Amino acid sequence: MALIEWNDSLKLGVAVVDRQHERLIGIINRLYEATTEHRGADVISEILDELIIYTATHFSMEEKYFAECEYPDAEEHKREHDALIERVSAFASDFEKAPAGSRSALANELLQFLKIWWQYHMMETDSKFVALFNGRGLT
Ligand SMILES: [Fe+2]
Repeated sequence: MALIEWNDSLKLGVAVVDRQHERLIGIINRLYEATTEHRGADVISEILDELIIYTATHFSMEEKYFAECEYPDAEEHKREHDALIERVSAFASDFEKAPAGSRSALANELLQFLKIWWQYHMMETDSKFVALFNGRGLT
């Protein structure tokens, strides 16, 4: 079972953003699966790296549109993005240093955090730019 079930209720109505969100949720679900299946730390670390890189790519894309659309809440929104990248990067380095016995608990803690963070971020923070983006032809 997936940690976060991707379905239409998570779509915002901006296709390029929705596609990237779906891919991000897919990476998080793979991380969840690897953790549940007790895969090795190397497998988890690899998925974590992929998650950090793709999250940064997605945030840059959103922020490029903020500039193009002159989104008034861009600064506040970017602060949420930066805080997440920092949090997940710090986790990735803690994970690598952690003793083998505590890695699974650590990964589960991150996954619960990511689930809540992404649901809130998409439904609350991201949903605020939809009307402006749609009005600028991004549908
Ligand atoms: Fe965002």
